[in-house]
Amino acid sequence: CILERVAETESTNDDLMARWRAGELIDPIARLAQKQTAGKGRAGRAWLARPQDSLCFSLAYPFQRKPADLSGLSLLVGLAVISGLSLALNHSKQELHQKGLRLKWPNDLLLNQGKLGGILIEGGQTKLGDPSWMIIGIGINLQNANAFDQALHHEQKVAALDQLLTTGEVLPDPDWIWLKIVEELEATLSNFDQTGFAQYQKLWMDWDAFQNTAVRITGAGQEVIEGVAKGVDTSGALLLASGEKMISIHAGDVSLR
Ligand code: BTN
Repeated sequence: CILERVAETESTNDDLMARWRAGELIDPIARLAQKQTAGKGRAGRAWLARPQDSLCFSLAYPFQRKPADLSGLSLLVGLAVISGLSLALNHSKQELHQKGLRLKWPNDLLLNQGKLGGILIEGGQTKLGDPSWMIIGIGINLQNANAFDQALHHEQKVAALDQLLTTGEVLPDPDWIWLKIVEELEATLSNFDQTGFAQYQKLWMDWDAFQNTAVRITGAGQEVIEGVAKGVDTSGALLLASGEKMISIHAGDVSLR
């Protein structure tokens, strides 16, 4: 994987998307920016991160699978980020789980209900037979959670990685954290490309922040569905018990009810 670091850019996702559209991508490439001036979140939202306090990067990765067969990808990315964090911080996954690290469907990292990080995936396939290039953007709050503007974070509580450390421990170099996450991502994505999401279903549920919790889902068309979250199916769709029915949801935003 090619590693690139830049001091400042608008959005690492946009940078790699532009290269993909121009047909310039050949090998997987990870691009890290110390500062983004127009960082993007999901659903057209902005991603505002304080430069010294956040890790912002994107990984462009070529899948052999068609875009339609990449369901569950964002869940898998969350799992790979957890593995990378476990290696970088030198804490077992079990410890991180005990400290409150969780995944929120489809692609947030939570720490004790606060947002620790987010994932934005874009890309596709230019023509049949070509690889599916996915631009996987990841933003992780490193420290100073209190300094992040809550209002700008859509009224969501903000968490940061340093809250996972025990007294006396210091946060590793952001570059090191980045490398460990990218290594884990590459290994996990390559495996996923061969086997699909099903084998990760149970693993994902171990980290599910909302299992058996009453939730409200806002769908892509702003429709609202309420129910009790029941984990994910083998394709990564969210299962929701709503009255007598079990509904599977493929895209949307989850909030607590
Ligand atoms: C979300 O939670 O809404 C997703 C946030 C994704 C942010 C990352 S930061 C690096 C990459 N470049 C962007 O413009 N966005 C992603």
